Amino acid sequence: MNKSIKKVVIANLKMNGSLSFYDDYLKGLKNGLHDIDNIDVGLCVPYPYLAQAQSILNGSNISWGSQNIAKFENGPYTGEVSATMLNDFGVQYVIVGHSERATAYCESNENIADKFNAIKKYNMTPVLCVGENLIEREAGIMEKVVASQIEAIIKCYGVEIFSDSIIAYEPIWAIGTDMAASPEQTNHMCSYIRKLINQDELNEVKNLKIVYGGSLNSENAVQLFGLKSVDGGLIGRAAINIEEFIKICQSAQTFET
Ligand code: PGA
Repeated sequence: MNKSIKKVVIANLKMNGSLSFYDDYLKGLKNGLHDIDNIDVGLCVPYPYLAQAQSILNGSNISWGSQNIAKFENGPYTGEVSATMLNDFGVQYVIVGHSERATAYCESNENIADKFNAIKKYNMTPVLCVGENLIEREAGIMEKVVASQIEAIIKCYGVEIFSDSIIAYEPIWAIGTDMAASPEQTNHMCSYIRKLINQDELNEVKNLKIVYGGSLNSENAVQLFGLKSVDGGLIGRAAINIEEFIKICQSAQTFET
């Protein structure tokens, strides 16, 4: 079903780094990945470093992106960054709905839906994070939780909006904990998400990638990327170390079909 899709590996650098860190990191990665051409690689950096990412990565095989976006187009929204501003800096990927933001800034599913729409409207690729917390997993309601996150977007904008998009299954209990989901749990949830989106089997949503995130590293990448239901990964801490991130990208490359 998703056999011929190129794997995608996205780094979420979160609120880390500095001008000098990104100078070394971006140049090092560009060099370290220069011969990789059968996977997609994206780096989501903090807003202030987008210009630097654009100037160093332009023309390379690595795309760059942001970790958030405003749902509004412009106007009196202090501290926000719009889709057209991201377009100005050549942004390809935009992370939306990350649980750290949903928790710390009370982002509702409806807000996330509007942000998703803004990303698509301005021809960027959303990386929508969905996933349950530990209490929800233990209660066995992870499917219901993930379904409500995805259905909020379908309800507002229709299922077709998921074409040319990425959904990252990121169980909250696996983020930053060194407790990645098992291959069985990952396979189950990624397959569930794909089925949920493609309920109309005759009309599958085009080019939707479903990736895994949460304590992904160079040791578990091979096993998780080897799953047919998994089209790649969203990597936090392990991406801060350039050698580790390169190793993860190399694992993804192994499974390219
Ligand atoms: P982690 O973070 O890889 O450090 O667990 C993943 C994420 O939050 O996207």
